[in-house]
Amino acid sequence: MSHSLLPHNTFGLDVRCKSFVEYADTETLIRQVLPRLSATPWLHIGSGSNLLFLGDYDGTVLHSGIRGIEMLRREGENVWVKAGAGVVWDDFVEWAVNHACFGAENLSLIPGEVGASAVQNIGAYGTEVADLIEEVETVEVATGTVKVFSAEDCDYSYRHSIFKQPENRGKFIVTHVTYRLSTVFRPDLNYKATRRAVEERLPKDQPLTAADLRRIIIDVRREKLPEPGIVGSAGSFFMNPVVSEEKYAEIKQSHPDAPGYAVENGVKVPAGWLIETCGWKGRTVGHAGVWEKQALVLVNRGGATGKEIQHLSQLICEDVKAHFGIVIKPEVNFVEGGKII
Ligand code: EPU
Repeated sequence: MSHSLLPHNTFGLDVRCKSFVEYADTETLIRQVLPRLSATPWLHIGSGSNLLFLGDYDGTVLHSGIRGIEMLRREGENVWVKAGAGVVWDDFVEWAVNHACFGAENLSLIPGEVGASAVQNIGAYGTEVADLIEEVETVEVATGTVKVFSAEDCDYSYRHSIFKQPENRGKFIVTHVTYRLSTVFRPDLNYKATRRAVEERLPKDQPLTAADLRRIIIDVRREKLPEPGIVGSAGSFFMNPVVSEEKYAEIKQSHPDAPGYAVENGVKVPAGWLIETCGWKGRTVGHAGVWEKQALVLVNRGGATGKEIQHLSQLICEDVKAHFGIVIKPEVNFVEGGKII
């Protein structure tokens, strides 16, 4: 295994792959990269902020070097902005705020890249990127042709898109994403923590600007989440489960403080609360741990292997299941041998 993946996974795992390929544009991807892929397993990554390598990767790892952000057109209050899949997500948000293209502020400082934003449907503080996506440009791997998906085609829901469906894995490579933003700043302060942070951090008579909101969101994230590059993690390790109203009422009986948010098909219960209530916050098993300030986040305490992190995640899942009868599922993708499992 010749190439280190240490700089390409935010868990800070010292794993390797057979080869690593970065391409600069769609043409190179189609003409030079795709024809060489049939011989080996391959995995396309962004900044590796949602991946858990359980060992070395026995194949080729691809990364998009398609960068560049372009304002396509304006119409009424709408402005369409197209970005390359390899643009760092937070650079895109910063660019948008600086160019008076609004709507993405709440998604400030989410690790990852533009391509992955459209695959994972990243979200925070009441905004999901699906709310902002106009279309996703991809290359179909089997045919080497460009295929464009509307937001509707992508079938977005909480941390989900068609690109994540097992039958579509490896079928499409995202090259560009076009976002529909707004020329008018309408802060989304529906999330309690954001509203409180704005009230606390902004002088009362001062009007809130998009740059203020971005700065406040960045501060809030820095206080709760491990500093990328210093503590290895993949952000939220688990997704928040949705339970039935009956189940939620049952939890409320034994835990009257249990948080929960009504959603279409039941009640979303924060996995961080479930994990903390089971006593896992701040704990360490081997070299893997549960972050002291947000129990949804598993961290590398230094020198952890992917298997150790997986083991900790299994212990937590079993405990939450035993305690609450609720199954929590990882948001992080586990990679073993040559594939995502
Ligand atoms: N909570 C606890 N203990 C914890 C963590 C959370 O009790 O250790 C409870 C609190 O009651 C809090 C509630 O859970 O009121 C919600 O917590 P928080 O606002 O931190 O949000 P979350 O549901 O835990 C989600 C996203 C985060 C995103 C935040 C803010 C998922 C899987 N995670 O976390 O996304 O930043 O909301 O919008 O939906 C990520 O995906 O990597 C990520 C960090």
